[in-house]
Amino acid sequence: MTLRPGHDEDLPALAALEEEAFGADAWSAATLGELVSAAGRRLLVAERDGEVVGYVLTALAGDFADLLRIAVAASARREGVASMLVDAAVLAAAADGADRMLLEVSEANAGAQAFYRRRGFTEIDRRPGYYRDGSAALVMLRELPAPERMDP
Ligand SMILES: CC(C)(COP(=O)(O)OP(=O)(O)OC[C@H]1O[C@@H](n2cnc3c(N)ncnc32)[C@H](O)[C@@H]1OP(=O)(O)O)[C@@H](O)C(=O)NCCC(=O)NCCS
Repeated sequence: MTLRPGHDEDLPALAALEEEAFGADAWSAATLGELVSAAGRRLLVAERDGEVVGYVLTALAGDFADLLRIAVAASARREGVASMLVDAAVLAAAADGADRMLLEVSEANAGAQAFYRRRGFTEIDRRPGYYRDGSAALVMLRELPAPERMDP
């Protein structure tokens, strides 16, 4: 498994991951292209045997970073891929000067909530009716280590 920054050439593979993970709410390659090219965005891709099996997209906004999206191919789940992606995104955000990472996750997405809790995120807020299907969003937070205190 290798992690690397994502490029425009990855967008079709990421759109396929989106389709598999989010169905009707999937982002197209065009939408992804716009989102990843905005200021402060970091796109990290996980690759196995030359195939993209996961990705994470974050946005730096001053002293915090937003985790905008994470998805892993169904065939590669529960193997630590998303954990590697989040840990790398956390290190990068801390190196960029962020002291916390925030995200929204649907109250209906129990699997993702369990994953985020396992990665050190805690619920700090709830936004009713946040998603198109009417479900609420949980806002979750992870404090980031200061770069000088991070292990090499
Ligand atoms: C959520 C998601 C990114 C997790 O990816 P993953 O690579 O399977 O996660 P990891 O293997 O790193 O999981 C680490 C730990 O998190 C927890 N976890 C992960 N997925 C879980 C699930 N579906 N149910 C319960 N716990 C889960 C487990 O404790 C797991 O450790 P274990 O496998 O030893 O039990 C993946 O299931 C996915 O792509 N889902 C669809 C897209 C999505 O919902 N994204 C998040 C909202 S934007």
